[in-house]
Amino acid sequence: MPLTADVRDRLAVDAQAIVDRYPQPRSALLPMLHLVQSEEGYVSPDGIAFCAAQLGLTTAEVAAVATFYTQYKRHPNGTYTVGVCTNTLCAVMGGDEIFRSLEEHLGVGHDETTEDGVVTLEKVECNAACDYAPVVMVNWEFFDNQTPESAKRLTDDLRRGADVAPTRGAAKVCSFKQVSRVLAGFNDGRAGEGVAAGEATLRGTALAKEEGWTAPEGAPRSSSSASRGDGGRKLGHVAAQTGAGTSAQDAPTVPAGTKERAGTTAGKPPGEATHGESDDGGASTPPADAKPEA
Ligand code: FES
Repeated sequence: MPLTADVRDRLAVDAQAIVDRYPQPRSALLPMLHLVQSEEGYVSPDGIAFCAAQLGLTTAEVAAVATFYTQYKRHPNGTYTVGVCTNTLCAVMGGDEIFRSLEEHLGVGHDETTEDGVVTLEKVECNAACDYAPVVMVNWEFFDNQTPESAKRLTDDLRRGADVAPTRGAAKVCSFKQVSRVLAGFNDGRAGEGVAAGEATLRGTALAKEEGWTAPEGAPRSSSSASRGDGGRKLGHVAAQTGAGTSAQDAPTVPAGTKERAGTTAGKPPGEATHGESDDGGASTPPADAKPEA
């Protein structure tokens, strides 16, 4: 349905607020595409024309961007995008099986929407939640450690209109249009809700604390870290909080005898042990600054 004059006028006010955030108007294209998607539930030809007019671009330029990113839908989307991660780790942990069972349960395939217009099923790429594999996302909220049965129950709840809470993040899953407006940069005030980093994500940090591992003092900064200036230090700080090691310099020292810790972080800097388990049986190479084994 074409955008009415009233809707255009209303969107134009929001569009200007987006443009005002950037030095160049064309830099506002990505959030503006989310804005039109928040109105129509997808990026329609009218939405593309609206963005082009607001930003002084051609419709071809806008369409080129809208068709590149999978978060922009070119046909009407369901109220909820149910994205099953079928990237490597989730796939082997059951993601492929979850997707197949949802295809059968919902009667739709990838990028198709149920007849009631509630669920659009998608295969999605890694959501950086591998420590909770296999992961399903509903409108970009995390549902961790899923099974075919739990995923089917999830879609059933969505289709009967129940309030659904993700494992982490906001207290309740919002609609696709609501989420699109947040992605356009309009705060819904809910960013602080719910759990952020969970136990599995913080396992590396917890282990380092248990073992008394600390970052070595006076270690030379790597060239890549040095070129980032203070940002390199901040990254290390964030990595320590999330348990995601970024370089030998960021990683705590591995104490003597670590390889005897079967099934934990044997031979690895603890910053890389986000899953609390060794994936190589202790065969990996310790960091350059690791202390020699006893
Ligand atoms: S592979 Fe699924 S979240 Fe990373």
